[in-house]
Amino acid sequence: MIKIGIVGTGATMSIAHFHAEGYKKDPRCCVAAVYDINREAAEKWAADHGLSARICGSYRELLECCDAVDLCTPNFLHAGQGLGAIRAGKHLLVEKPMAITGEECETLAAAAGKSSACAMVGMVYRYAGPVLLARRMVREEIGPVYTFTAWTGGKRLADPAVPLEWRMIRERSGSGALGDFGSHLLDLADYVAGQRYDRVTCRLGTFIPERTGPQGTPQPVENDDAAVFSASGPGGLGSFTVSRVGLDDIMMLLAGEGGMLQVSLRVPEQVTYWEKKRDGGYTGVVKSLELPPQKHFDDWFVAETAAFLDGIQGRREGMPDLAQGLYIQRVLDAAQAAHETGNTQEVAL
Ligand SMILES: NC(=O)c1ccc[n+]([C@@H]2O[C@H](COP(=O)([O-])OP(=O)(O)OC[C@H]3O[C@@H](n4cnc5c(N)ncnc54)[C@H](O)[C@@H]3O)[C@@H](O)[C@H]2O)c1
Repeated sequence: MIKIGIVGTGATMSIAHFHAEGYKKDPRCCVAAVYDINREAAEKWAADHGLSARICGSYRELLECCDAVDLCTPNFLHAGQGLGAIRAGKHLLVEKPMAITGEECETLAAAAGKSSACAMVGMVYRYAGPVLLARRMVREEIGPVYTFTAWTGGKRLADPAVPLEWRMIRERSGSGALGDFGSHLLDLADYVAGQRYDRVTCRLGTFIPERTGPQGTPQPVENDDAAVFSASGPGGLGSFTVSRVGLDDIMMLLAGEGGMLQVSLRVPEQVTYWEKKRDGGYTGVVKSLELPPQKHFDDWFVAETAAFLDGIQGRREGMPDLAQGLYIQRVLDAAQAAHETGNTQEVAL
């Protein structure tokens, strides 16, 4: 039985909830330990989830009670806690973005590279049915992709009355929507369409510049609410919009040598394919490719935690590893620099 330790039970989005529900469905593991800086909240969270896990008083204690660490803490904690887990020989699932700087990601990826334990970044959309189908279609029908267009985001923070959160403070989050949502899209561009980028342009915007801080007074939002960026590499061109103040869905539209494909995770039972001959034009045939129903979000996390357990058991094909987390952070860093300088940036690969 693989003993899982969950760190960061949740105060805003509470992504740990989805991870816990995934582990509960898998007979290979049990959630043996939980740690949150807010012990009372962790106790309540464990009880609410029906977990008989040990509620630890420190991260060190958690490391002593588990085989695998699942980090659901704010981004700035991933580097230190992740390194602690790897050095203790534990398997690691770290939520995205993997850390807040390229240097931190480099340290984590290097440490993971020297360990035989499994280390994975939480790129949950890899496990959505339409994403897997799109990846297969690119490999079997479409071939080389010319353009990849995608957007995603959230609506929860569109309300200016939502108080300041850690994700709006640069030293706790790094970038804002750019890293939060852009990390997913960059992973999908690579995983689905084989696009890895070496050049980026980017514009960032902050539309709600102040929010109520913990003292009840207005405080500045220090990073971006939304980003638009475009990128290029040997695998084609990508263009992306992300926003935490009013976007939804994950939408992907890709076009290549063998046709065009549209995925909307709002409609996870269907992918639309515009057929094209590899050596000719579009045929006029538009196919609706049907998929078995999946429970939006919940089922993708069940598949993600299962993939982590597979990785622990040695089956790591298709797993987003820490080298992937590092690549993504490099592109995000270049995008941030592109915004600040107003110039296209090369990705430090
Ligand atoms: N994959 C996804 O779609 C997705 C969605 C949301 C969030 N996330 C990621 O998950 C992570 C957590 O985000 P969230 O929105 O769930 O956060 P959250 O604010 O809901 O929860 C963070 C928790 O960490 C705890 N914490 C703070 N400092 C701590 C410390 N030193 N040690 C232990 N616990 C500590 C807090 O008390 C809180 O309970 C982030 O990296 C975020 O980017 C991923």
